[in-house]
Amino acid sequence: MELLDKFGRKITYLRLAVTDRCNLRCQYCMPAHGIDIVDRTELLSYKEMYRITRVLSELGVNKVRLTGGEPFVRKDFVNFLESLSFNDKLEEINITTNGALISNHIDDLERFKINAINLSLDSLQKEKFAKITRRDVFDNVYDTFEKLEKSSLKLKLNVVVQSGVNTDEIIDFIELTKNKDIAVRFIEEMPFNGKGQRDISEVWNFKKILNLIKNNYLDVEPMLSKKSSTSVNFRIPNYQGTFGIIPAFTRTICNDCDRIRITSTGLFKNCLFDGGVFNVRDFIRNGASDDELKQLFIDTVHHKPENGFIAEAARGNAVSESMSTIGG
Ligand code: 5AD
Ligand code: SF4
Repeated sequence: MELLDKFGRKITYLRLAVTDRCNLRCQYCMPAHGIDIVDRTELLSYKEMYRITRVLSELGVNKVRLTGGEPFVRKDFVNFLESLSFNDKLEEINITTNGALISNHIDDLERFKINAINLSLDSLQKEKFAKITRRDVFDNVYDTFEKLEKSSLKLKLNVVVQSGVNTDEIIDFIELTKNKDIAVRFIEEMPFNGKGQRDISEVWNFKKILNLIKNNYLDVEPMLSKKSSTSVNFRIPNYQGTFGIIPAFTRTICNDCDRIRITSTGLFKNCLFDGGVFNVRDFIRNGASDDELKQLFIDTVHHKPENGFIAEAARGNAVSESMSTIGG
């Protein structure tokens, strides 16, 4: 039994949001006062998340990314990671984090064989970082960055490219890859911030980001990436690390999509841009068996929309929820 959609795409990757809460207030993600968070009883429990992951892993899912909100905001998240790490059908467990709460947990993450950490870091300048995140945690996050870089964990830096805010730092970020074995990924900003499109004077899409980089370096080497990679990857010759661009908004990567999402309240999503297909939590709380859950997942994945544009058109309203609700 496996998860196959009608375009022949096989689903092997689950993105699971463990909370909708976050300790930061990034401008592109939520308004200053935050978003309406749900009641705790609506969140999936760790037991439910464990069960969903186990059932999906029996259907061929071998990679899980834990996201939020900020996953480390949820109590006992580290214990949950330990339980997940006992599922030997999972080849990779990865985490996306803003890094502000994890500097004391890096040893645990190494011990649980967490594969990779995606650290959100949108500026290398303390003041600007505070402006973007509306919290004064730069020193803390940068300390985490340095600790992660020295650890055995693979490290990716996520940089949301924000017009008029951090585009002047694109080259600084690439220079970080000169002596560090990290992957910097520039992400196109999406209107997922709790209110819709922001006022943007220039659209910094994939092409514009790459052009800027090409104008700065004599040689930009394209790299071969895994088919399902969301980033198009490059390196500067003789640099230790790599960089990539994620066409999150221009959506040119949907053909090779291998992922599904489950939000912190159990909403199952076939696509980042769809409005949610059904609530797994409700089925579990109504007593669904493992076999019933499997059938539900198989049937739902079969209808995965061809791409993010079709998914968005089908939902009938523009996507404007915060990424913290959607589950980064
Ligand atoms: N556009 C692009 N990326 C976003 N993220 C959060 N909101 C947005 C947005 N509106 C990113 C975060 C993090 C990842 C989970 O999603 O920076 O790296
Ligand atoms: Fe929190 Fe991430 Fe949203 Fe920033 S982008 S507010 S770190 S969930």
